[in-house]
Amino acid sequence: MLIPLILLILMTTSTDINQTKPSSGRVAWRAPSNIAFVKYWGKRDRQIPTNPSLSMTLKNCYSQMKVEFNFDPSQKMQVEVLFEGKSNDKFQSRIAKYLESICLELPFVSHLSLKIDSMNSFPHSAGIASSASSMAALALTLCSIEEHIYGKKSEREEFFQRASYLARLASGSACRSLYPNYALWGQSLHFQDGCNEYAIGDIGEISKEFKEVCDAILLVDSSVKDVSSSAGHQLMNDHPMAQNKYLLSDANTLSVLKALREGDWALFGEVLESEALSLHAMMMTSNPSFILLKPNSLAIIEKVKRYRLEKDLPLFFTIDAGPNIHLIYPKTIQVDVEEFIENQLKDLLEEGKWIQDMIGSGPEEIEFDS
Ligand code: DP6
Repeated sequence: MLIPLILLILMTTSTDINQTKPSSGRVAWRAPSNIAFVKYWGKRDRQIPTNPSLSMTLKNCYSQMKVEFNFDPSQKMQVEVLFEGKSNDKFQSRIAKYLESICLELPFVSHLSLKIDSMNSFPHSAGIASSASSMAALALTLCSIEEHIYGKKSEREEFFQRASYLARLASGSACRSLYPNYALWGQSLHFQDGCNEYAIGDIGEISKEFKEVCDAILLVDSSVKDVSSSAGHQLMNDHPMAQNKYLLSDANTLSVLKALREGDWALFGEVLESEALSLHAMMMTSNPSFILLKPNSLAIIEKVKRYRLEKDLPLFFTIDAGPNIHLIYPKTIQVDVEEFIENQLKDLLEEGKWIQDMIGSGPEEIEFDS
């Protein structure tokens, strides 16, 4: 059930911040990364997506955030960020800027002093976007801190929706990292369930064929991208094909939902690959244009297509805004795919590196001292 947004902002705005007692504590969350099957590319207003997107939550790629907080209504906000044990100015200023931007939603944040210790389970030089998992983890810690400060515990469904709402404001794709298995974000012309303010985890009954799905992340190039996601989204504003792309992705969301529900790997794969390539087609035809795929990305795509035809196996690719290739397939063919990667793709990968991941069970609150 969708909880009206008004409920999401009720908790803090209904309480006078100056009447709230000072408090301190420690919270810690682990939040997974996600891979979009239908891509979010283009946004308007305050992080509102221009088309619905649908993702699979990962298991092994996650961010962990441990936060010590001190709330004092007489103090101003302060934040100190460590990333993998070291101070990191870029990450710290991103978090500080985000916290300032959400003081309307969470008035207590203006009076918080935070010590954040963050890490990722995947190598940060791997060229895998970590903003979804780290911003989801940050949003979760803020929701936990809010519960500490006000001494109220909300229903878990409401808690995660609120975290999804806050994660969206930090990074759009992060709002999908709050749920197990699959998440859907954004309104559609074709179905009622989507919501622009936060993602939802309940996408209906999923067929057994899509209960255990793997993602082999093939690392092609880890150098810094020529265009950030934020700049990429912006290029859609004046893109001559943007409106058609939004309509296409909306229709693709419906098709992927149908495929997941009916266990239709052929339909799923066709849409998955088309979505990935049309995302890159948008980048290649924007002004200025960007080509983020590398020769080895294309060589891998060729080989995947050939292997699929030869072996008649449901192995498909998707790509985010970068050169790395994600291979998506059912766990039942994991041995074949591993063999294929090791024998035919390894030479095309940076230092032969790839990460084995799969569908995951969502975020987890962890012990601060773990
Ligand atoms: C290509 O969520 O990174 O990965 O909202 O500006 O932080 P911001 O963008 P971001 O965009 C992700 C784009 C994508 C597709 C997707 O994950 O849906």
